[in-house]
Amino acid sequence: MSQIKIFDTTLRDGEQSPGCSMNLKEKLEVAKCLERLKVDVIEAGFAISSPGDFESVSAIASAVKDCTIASLARATVKDIDCAWEAVKHAADPRIHLFIATSPVHMEYKLKMTPEQVLERTAAMVAHAAKYVHNIEFSAEDATRSDVDFLCRVVDVAIRNGATVINLPDTVGYTTPAEMQQLIETVLRRVDGADRVELSVHCHNDLGMAVANSLGGVLGGARQIECTINGLGERAGNTSLEEVVMAMHTRPDLYEGLETRIDTTQIYRASKTVYNIIGQNAPLNKPIVGRNAFLHESGIHQHGVLANKKTYEILTPEAVGIHTQELVLGKHSGRHAFESRLQSMGFNLTPEELERSFAEFKVLCDKKKAVDDADIEAIVTHSAMDEGAENGWKLDWFAVHTTNFTTATSTMALKRGEEKQEAVCLGDGPIDAAFNAIDQIMKPVEHTFELYRVGSVSQGKDTLGEVSVKLKARERTFTGRGLSTDIIEASILAYISAVNTLNAYTEKHKED
Ligand code: KIV
Ligand code: ZN
Repeated sequence: MSQIKIFDTTLRDGEQSPGCSMNLKEKLEVAKCLERLKVDVIEAGFAISSPGDFESVSAIASAVKDCTIASLARATVKDIDCAWEAVKHAADPRIHLFIATSPVHMEYKLKMTPEQVLERTAAMVAHAAKYVHNIEFSAEDATRSDVDFLCRVVDVAIRNGATVINLPDTVGYTTPAEMQQLIETVLRRVDGADRVELSVHCHNDLGMAVANSLGGVLGGARQIECTINGLGERAGNTSLEEVVMAMHTRPDLYEGLETRIDTTQIYRASKTVYNIIGQNAPLNKPIVGRNAFLHESGIHQHGVLANKKTYEILTPEAVGIHTQELVLGKHSGRHAFESRLQSMGFNLTPEELERSFAEFKVLCDKKKAVDDADIEAIVTHSAMDEGAENGWKLDWFAVHTTNFTTATSTMALKRGEEKQEAVCLGDGPIDAAFNAIDQIMKPVEHTFELYRVGSVSQGKDTLGEVSVKLKARERTFTGRGLSTDIIEASILAYISAVNTLNAYTEKHKED
């Protein structure tokens, strides 16, 4: 068996796309999911792009032990030095440097001639090689580059020490057959290309990123770059769950090739990332969407009842979705709760278990039947409350709203022994409640990047799940709230986001 390495760039290409920014704690949470998934490489960020990125790349480099940790760098000394500083504590650090090789990028973006690009490639790969052996070189916009020139650049990169050569389809322009041919051409024409790892990095502008990556694998690529849920610039990148499950489901096509991914961790990783960015999977999203394993039409249901294989090419269990919907309720004990969590793939620390069980008991008083979706929401929502330890907590609230008067809210918050109340008007109950919270917590000026209300499961007593993202000082502060009452869920989410913002403001008041 030959291994196809999975290089995950959720925290770099994924995180840089609009609405997907994450704070340090969230990035560490995603990195831990990726480690559990057993991805081979985590691209933790673009260290030079901001102090926040540098901090998170180096935190992930120290926290994760079982994956290579890469930082992106442009082909400049400053970028490479910064990338190295950020990843150098990793168990297996990698510098990933790139330069564009297509005519349009070289002329209009870089304003460099092809000869200058060749020289820069040689010098910068050699510079990175002073720090580390594990060097990935990417020829940005490779699929729109002149193939003779591309082969010369790859040759120069290999001669100067690159160990991985990545050929990105930066603008999602290529096709599976073309990608296969490009990899075959480089393997055939460049000396030493068979001794390095060839890699593909495909964007999804024409909906072909997964297919193009698989085309690259058939051509001889041995690393696939991808993201959880296909996040990424514009239409996104190759989706990790789709490309991995395609290979897993069709071993006849990818004979002798396998990834080391633990597929049973896919659903949890997908859910964690969606929760963090405040989105849900589209219902029909392959592998992780709510409908991905449902059979609606009578003919399909009939077939599946006779034999699942009639309409099912992979099982939900293979990606960590548990379909046996045993319902827990207020008479269920800690043991039943814990064993359900284990069967769902969650192994919690004693403190996490304690907190989740307490939340589960509160929910049981509000809702007759607690199902897997509720339990999953409780577990994934707990413990993400940065800054909450010394922050404000909800004591009680009241809102009054009609369709003919101005909404009012009375809010009581507590922080340790301190307790404050505020009464505010607002343009609707949420605005009134948030105004009252502002009056007590006094956050610095901020804007709303996201306010989203979703439901965890079906039914009118379902849990409401609210995500709030605030933007201040070029950073994003996230809060989440969970309750059968969506006003309460909104209040909890906003308090949590403001606690995080206030903790950050306090820490950086001298800056
Ligand atoms: O799409 C792209 O070309 C990239 C490179 C920086 C690898 O993200
Ligand atoms: Zn990209």
